[in-house]
Amino acid sequence: MAAVANRRCQSCRAPLPQEASTGRPRAYCNATCRKNAHRIRERKRREQLSNRDNWWTPGDLREEILRRWDVTLDAAACNASRLVPEYLGPDHPSKARRDALECSWSTYAGDGTVYLNPPYRPALLKPFLAQAVKTARRGTPVVGLIPASTDTLWWREYVTTPRADVEFLVGRLRFGGPHATGGPATFGSALVVWS
Ligand SMILES: C[S@@+](CC[C@H](N)C(=O)[O-])C[C@H]1O[C@@H](n2cnc3c(N)ncnc32)[C@H](O)[C@@H]1O
Repeated sequence: MAAVANRRCQSCRAPLPQEASTGRPRAYCNATCRKNAHRIRERKRREQLSNRDNWWTPGDLREEILRRWDVTLDAAACNASRLVPEYLGPDHPSKARRDALECSWSTYAGDGTVYLNPPYRPALLKPFLAQAVKTARRGTPVVGLIPASTDTLWWREYVTTPRADVEFLVGRLRFGGPHATGGPATFGSALVVWS
């Protein structure tokens, strides 16, 4: 069958075969591609519905981070999700430690490293990253788990310009906690170290 020059399967991008001019044009080359596209749409929809501000660092990555860095403060957490005993978060018993954007991370981290898996909503993500940069300039290193969004202005401002070290993680993380989708994320992640 001849392929139509400009029409491709919306899932695998293979050229679609030519078909009769009547009826709705096909969008996929076969049932598998149609199902794959449906699965991806569903995953994105679940992600939009879930609360991305509260996705927890996956268990195996937590262990790796704690092995590699002397983390003494989790700067964005709740009592149930914190990586280490010292944390900043809305349910902290001490009022002074409930808003990480209003306190000094260096004060609570001591000589160690701050861990940051911030809320991913841009309105919160950016001030958290700004504070990570500021904290590192004061001499306290920060390691962050953030979306690998290298095409954004915020990546340039808070990662590239301050010359943070970046490790891109292979594959898509399955975040934990009651608000996560259970499936792999629709975006890649990176570990960023400001020091
Ligand atoms: C993506 S979760 C990370 C949880 C945990 N640290 C982890 O990595 O699994 C972000 C956390 O930031 C907390 N959070 C939201 N706003 C905050 C704020 N202003 N100060 C401190 N924590 C905040 C939320 O309660 C949430 O638990």
